[in-house]
Amino acid sequence: MPLVVNVASVSPVVARSVETGVWRIQVGSRDLPTLTGTADSKPRRDRLKKLGESGLPFEWSEVRSERSSERSTVTLPLSPGEKIYGLGLQMEGSDRRGGVYHLRVDHFASGHDRLHAPTPLYISSKGYAVFFNTTRPIDIYVGVGNRLRDPKIPRFRDRNTDPKWDSQPDSGQVEASVQGPGLEVLVFSGPTAMAALQRYNLFCGGGTLPPLWSLGFWHRTPLIASGEQALQEVDEFEKRGYPLDVVGLEPGWQSSSYPGTMDWSKERFPNPSGFVSAARSRGVRVNLWEDPYIAPGSELFKAVDPNFGSHTVWLGAVADLRMKAAADAMAKFHTEKSLNIGVSGFKIDEVDGFDNWLWPDHATFPSGLDGLRMRQIYGLLWQKEIDDWYRAKGERTFGLVRGSNGAASRFPFAIYSDTYDHAQYVTALTNSALAGVLWCAETRDAPNPEEWVRRMQSAVMSPITQLNAWASGTKPWSFPRVESEVRAAMVLREQLAPYLYTAFGQYWLNGVPPVRPMSLVDGGSETDQYMLGDDLLVAPILVGHPRRTVRLPKGDWYEFGTGRRAGNGETITIQPSLSTIPIYVRAGASIPMFPSTLHLSSVPSDAHYRLECYGPGPWRAQVFEDDGQTFAYEKGDYGLFRLTVGLNSTVYQEVEDGKRKVIGRGIEVEVKG
Ligand code: GAL
Repeated sequence: MPLVVNVASVSPVVARSVETGVWRIQVGSRDLPTLTGTADSKPRRDRLKKLGESGLPFEWSEVRSERSSERSTVTLPLSPGEKIYGLGLQMEGSDRRGGVYHLRVDHFASGHDRLHAPTPLYISSKGYAVFFNTTRPIDIYVGVGNRLRDPKIPRFRDRNTDPKWDSQPDSGQVEASVQGPGLEVLVFSGPTAMAALQRYNLFCGGGTLPPLWSLGFWHRTPLIASGEQALQEVDEFEKRGYPLDVVGLEPGWQSSSYPGTMDWSKERFPNPSGFVSAARSRGVRVNLWEDPYIAPGSELFKAVDPNFGSHTVWLGAVADLRMKAAADAMAKFHTEKSLNIGVSGFKIDEVDGFDNWLWPDHATFPSGLDGLRMRQIYGLLWQKEIDDWYRAKGERTFGLVRGSNGAASRFPFAIYSDTYDHAQYVTALTNSALAGVLWCAETRDAPNPEEWVRRMQSAVMSPITQLNAWASGTKPWSFPRVESEVRAAMVLREQLAPYLYTAFGQYWLNGVPPVRPMSLVDGGSETDQYMLGDDLLVAPILVGHPRRTVRLPKGDWYEFGTGRRAGNGETITIQPSLSTIPIYVRAGASIPMFPSTLHLSSVPSDAHYRLECYGPGPWRAQVFEDDGQTFAYEKGDYGLFRLTVGLNSTVYQEVEDGKRKVIGRGIEVEVKG
């Protein structure tokens, strides 16, 4: 037998314009499913158009594609000094140049390769983004790997005599490669790095708009809490005056778990509907944990059979959600058992394992995918599945998922982790936007009161605020010395809901993420501070570091709460008291807030917004309003309002977007400082 010679052919690419400011390159043949296909992404054409056309800082002739019998590869240029951000939900660092990334889904979130969300997206400091629209694991070399015949190969130096000798001189290129017949590459123009990310999010259907109630406080009860115990915990929050909006049930709500039945335990939840109604009558929604591997012999198993993968996970059957019959059976079961009795969402666990945790690479699935590819998208498929159930009911949900991938921006989920390093949590929070996902900086436990309060304070400044007490049984008041500081942080979270909701409104409308890394804000490299929405700069105090520096971008900044001037374009050193969350407000901003409440659902419809104004006036604010829970906003029933507060506290409003004409609440003005 002659040997098959692996000949690579390098060729220039053809870039086709697919949306305003978005181009597609196809290397080799079309290789389905893609990430956007899996997520059923519908580009938000009108919003992309609004961003307008913008050029790219390189020529298409500098992009090369390469096919060999095994691989599909693309090479894109980098310019000197250009920084590259993203390449998945990275829990360390900012600039990815000089690194090699083998992007795979994995819950160990180890190193730069095995990630909860290995989104193959990079964003350049030069103001464009590149998305590899593939469901295969992908290898990306950022400035690494010099080609022998590249005319731009760095100049050779003699190590013996030249102090500038470098073992890995920058190649001036990104090379991305998959083992497969083709690779789709999407290029998003800017002109800024933020605008490029906006285009990516809008191309994937826009950012998610969670229901208003989900922006309050979440608490998860211990592993096998019964309905009675869960309600006791809910009542304890109320009695002690701590906010609560969602109670999360962990594996014990199911009649058996690992593998699960996804059905209520008759022993611990004899009356599921009564339990959910009791929680809701207390202003608290119910979220259910699921490890989506099905107990053989269970009712759900029978409904989904035979649409399972070849291998089990912890002896549970793995539904192939790409098979319509499996997706439909799953929807019917969950709608009847949970959605119809008022369950508000799910926490999807363990969809982020590697081959020794989930199924092997060679596992087979009825829809035709092998195990390797199915692992890359299983979390994405679950997000779409659950989103579909709630859309069919006309109700919005918000939930948690441990594994995701590209094209997930439109899904109402935040990622959580079993890791617990505080600095990594804050880095993941800042970097999550660069992977088109949201991060949940949950709290679980702490060895001392200082750590507890600092973790709680950073949790309240993230897209979803959750105390996950499944193993620890911790309560917000578990550390009496910091009880009041923790309560204050939780109350602040509830009060900030209109501001946060507006940030999500912008995410949906314009693709601007609610948490914004400094790299996209002003090219900064910090991963321990970020912008939350347009006007709040957050710099959490990390465990073990009571003193820290904060870089204030250009413009005047004021301390949140006190209104004291903090500085302008400078780096300050702070050592705040335990009750202070370092938050800074842009001069001239006013922050729309709710009155203090224990449940967002019990804020009266006639309660006023309080506009907290910082710096010298006049002040401005944005407020996004809709019904907060249905999909009517997708048909135009929303308003994005621009408010201007004059020096005499008169408030002017203008509609910036949407069909609503006037703001739905009265307004009070408070000038800080
Ligand atoms: C883990 C998950 C935790 C908790 C636990 C319950 O996999 O990350 O948050 O839900 O399962 O057994």
